[in-house]
Amino acid sequence: MIAITAASGHLGHRAVEALLKRVPAAGLVALVRHPERAGDLAALGLQVREGDYDRPETLAPALAGVEKLLFISGSEVGRRVPQHRAVVDAARRAGVRLVAYTSILHADTSRVLLATEHRETEALLRASGVPYVLLRNGWYLENYTEHLAPALAHGAIAGSAGNGRIAAASRADYAEAAAAVLTGTGHERRVYELAGTPFTMADLAAEVSRQAGKPVAYRDLPPAEYRAVLVGAGLPGPYADALVDADLGVARGELDDASGELQRLIGRPSTPLASAVAAALAALPAP
Ligand SMILES: NC(=O)c1ccc[n+]([C@@H]2O[C@H](COP(=O)([O-])OP(=O)(O)OC[C@H]3O[C@@H](n4cnc5c(N)ncnc54)[C@H](OP(=O)(O)O)[C@@H]3O)[C@@H](O)[C@H]2O)c1
Repeated sequence: MIAITAASGHLGHRAVEALLKRVPAAGLVALVRHPERAGDLAALGLQVREGDYDRPETLAPALAGVEKLLFISGSEVGRRVPQHRAVVDAARRAGVRLVAYTSILHADTSRVLLATEHRETEALLRASGVPYVLLRNGWYLENYTEHLAPALAHGAIAGSAGNGRIAAASRADYAEAAAAVLTGTGHERRVYELAGTPFTMADLAAEVSRQAGKPVAYRDLPPAEYRAVLVGAGLPGPYADALVDADLGVARGELDDASGELQRLIGRPSTPLASAVAAALAALPAP
């Protein structure tokens, strides 16, 4: 039995799809905060169980009979260490034989603030005695392609990433890597740095411009100015701070990677930027 935490999220759904290509639905358990909202996962034939990182009492029954666990990191930044500790404790008590944790690229050396909770979770896993494998995911291509409408409207994409390279891949790529690890053998204690083909923010703007047939330029801004742009667009301050900090990490090269481990695990090239841009532009409402 393979369970997936945060199965209701974007990556969780892609992971379920990838696992269903390899194992029958009867061997999969979706852990979600709100089972009543997970009708789509139940309709696929998965068992749906309540698994709330904030309610440790839900996690032990959720992991009963589970051999392997895809542990997708929570989305509530700042609260994730106690949440993740609850998952690791429950996995240890349930005797889970492999926990695959979705961490962040170069978690051990990254100075990006978002890496802190991942680093602590990796340490919790190592200390727990539970067999684990670390899936250190790079940035999602979708982070860059899901918001192209304002870029086209303004003819500009803003950021503080300088000429830093972003080795992003699609959520589906990372999900497929997770499915390969969970259904394969010999992955215990391995640390996978998972990343796509690198591009700069200027490359992104040029690709959007080329495909949309409109001028779109990358505007590299000082951090305070970029923060003001994000807050002006309606983002909460702490979220804007995290995005600015992540861009500074990109500028330092911390979101780049040329290990090729993602491509080896999935047995194909990862999704190119051009394909992700094309899919996102095709999904935009007609002007
Ligand atoms: N690599 C990247 O570029 C990148 C970007 C953003 C995030 N991330 C990380 O990767 C994770 C997965 O990404 P995603 O795109 O799937 O994010 P997402 O679509 O926002 O999904 C987040 C998931 O976390 C679940 N969750 C939040 N709090 C929880 C709790 N207390 N107990 C149980 N589940 C909880 C959510 O459940 P509900 O459906 O109930 O809300 C949802 O299923 C994120 O949570 C974050 O840690 C990575």
